[in-house]
Order: sequence, then structure tokens, then C-alpha cells
Amino acid sequence: MNKNSKIFIAGHRGMVGSAILRELEKQGYNNIITKNRQELDLLNQQAVADFFAAEKPEFVFLAAAKVGGIEANRSQLGAFTYENLQIQNNVIHSSYLNGVKRLIFLGSSCIYPRLAPQPIKEEYILTGALEPTNYGYAIAKIAGVKMCEAYRAQYGCDFVPLMPTNLYGINDNFDLNGSHVLPALMRKFHEAKIAGEKFVEVWGSGAPKRELLYVDDLAEACVFVMNNKNVTELTNIGNGEDSTIKELAELVKKIVGFVGELKFDSTKPDGAPRKCLDVSKINALGWKATTSLEDGLKKVYEWYLQQNSTIKK
Ligand SMILES: NC(=O)c1ccc[n+]([C@@H]2O[C@H](COP(=O)([O-])OP(=O)(O)OC[C@H]3O[C@@H](n4cnc5c(N)ncnc54)[C@H](OP(=O)(O)O)[C@@H]3O)[C@@H](O)[C@H]2O)c1
Repeated sequence: MNKNSKIFIAGHRGMVGSAILRELEKQGYNNIITKNRQELDLLNQQAVADFFAAEKPEFVFLAAAKVGGIEANRSQLGAFTYENLQIQNNVIHSSYLNGVKRLIFLGSSCIYPRLAPQPIKEEYILTGALEPTNYGYAIAKIAGVKMCEAYRAQYGCDFVPLMPTNLYGINDNFDLNGSHVLPALMRKFHEAKIAGEKFVEVWGSGAPKRELLYVDDLAEACVFVMNNKNVTELTNIGNGEDSTIKELAELVKKIVGFVGELKFDSTKPDGAPRKCLDVSKINALGWKATTSLEDGLKKVYEWYLQQNSTIKK
């Protein structure tokens, strides 16, 4: 990308898209196109086709998707399948038709097989059964990864699928029914601290292990990959370190300053037992995550306190 290349970020108001926008602006890119959902509904095939034909973006970051935690995923399997397939079909196909020079598509570590050997290598995709609580999301995202590979094979499109691990950061979703584990924990601890509660209930057994990447690190990786022609295949993006949910909960509790106890509700689903990516491929290409979990969480909690009244409900 040149500093004045025309760049479209799909989903620029989301956690990932907004981080990519911040990173591009920080690096001096000055020709970035953004459209909110009211201006361009990415589910609408004709609207997306018209937009690409009129704007002719050169580079596309596809960070728009229907995203959520375990509860949202398992209660809306159909919507997660349909919306993700539709958004990626529309954006990837229009990018092909309009000669986009490079596109980055985002998969997610939760679409690897549920019991994949750890740490998870890129080639483990499609080698085993999926996590049943989010198979709608997973099957759609796997189709997106494979579509990028298929468009490269058939049409020579330079479309690159990346596989980020679990993310956290500013602009995350803090709705307790739709959120991922970290924002849910942060909000519960914060509200319990304010209310002077004696304990906080944490979903699941606390035993599953998760790797967490600060979203600004992911954004930096996305821009790095967009500018690195050596990355053409599915590539994991993470920091390669994981902790149990119990350890994460203890750390969030400390950062928020809650003094009560933790209670684990084992009637709620755990999800996959462990998800940690093998990041040797992206590290060998020259990118490494730099933000520690504690530093990242402190930044998010500061942001949460500033935004408390305007957080997405
Ligand atoms: N969050 C994670 O832990 C994680 C982990 C790995 C991979 N990823 C991947 O990263 C990408 C972004 O995730 P995120 O966490 O940033 O999600 P997010 O915060 O929910 O953002 C998703 C964005 O997509 C937009 N969008 C959804 N449907 C749309 C539609 N029909 N038309 C136009 N825009 C639409 C949303 O617009 P509105 O603002 O209008 O809702 C929002 O800006 C996804 O592909 C996801 O799979 C996320």
C-alpha cells in the first residue's frame, strides 16, 4: 500500500475494524473509505456490488462479521451462518470483479476443530469435528477462508485469510449475553465492585485455556501482512501463550480492584477445552505481538471507565 492507496475497511466501527483504522491513520494512510451499516448493508448483494463498482477500492480489510460469545452463537446458529456467509460472499466476490489488489479476510481460532492438537497449526483446519456451540459461525468462516484460497487458485486474486486468536480491546462488546469472556468478566467485576457484592459468578468451570491478543496488536499484524507479499496463505495471528479462565478471571479481578470471591457456574458451557495458536509462521515472517495481557487489560479497563455510559448495550 502507498500512503494514498484507496483502502476500504469493512466493519470500521467494530473492535477489529476500528483498531485497523487507528493503525492505518497512525501510519499515515490518508485515503481510507468507511461506510456504516446504514450507509452500506453488507448483507445486500446489489448495494455491495454498486459500492465496489463506484468506489474501486485497491485494498480491502474485511473486518465486518456477525460476532459474539458462546451464548449468542449457540442461540443464533442460523443467523451466524447466514450473515457471515452473505457478508463475505458479497465483499470477496465484488473485490474479485473490481480488481482489488489485495484483500485480508479474518477467520478465527474458534473455527479450528474442537479437539485440535495444541498449539494449533494452520494445516489443522478441517481435520476434525467443530465445537457444537458455534458451528454456524465456524462453517461460514471456514467457507470464507476456502473462498480466498479458491479465488487465488482460479482467478489469481491476492486474497489472504488470517486466523486471529481470541481478541480483546477497546470498542469490545460488553453486553453480558453477547460478549466474549474478557469483557463479560470485566463488566461483572466492575459492577460487583460498585455494588459492594461479596462474590462474582463466572460462567463455566474455569478450567478451559484461552490465548488472548490485544486488538491493536492484531491491527498492526493486518497492516504488516497487507504490505508483505510473502504472506499468501492462511496464517495464524496470536501471541502463542494461553491461561486458564480462572487465571484470567483473577487477573481481571486484580485490575478492576474487586475484593470479593469468584464462583464458577459449571452448569454454563465451557466451550473448547483449549485454544492456543502456533504462531511460528507469522513470527518467522517478521511480526510478533508486543502487548502483555496485563498492560492490554489495564488499557481496556481505563477505556471502559471513560466510556461506561456509552458502551454498546
Ligand atoms: N472478537 C474476537 O475475539 C475475534 C477473534 C478472532 C477473529 N475475529 C474476527 O474479526 C472480525 C471482526 O470482529 P470484531 O470483534 O471486530 O466484531 P464487532 O466488534 O462485532 O464488529 C463487527 C463489525 O461488522 C459490522 N457489520 C456486521 N454486519 C454488518 C452488515 N450487515 N453491514 C455492515 N456492517 C456490518 C458491524 O457494524 P455495526 O457497528 O453497525 O454493528 C461492526 O462494525 C470478524 O471477522 C471476526 O470473526 C474476532
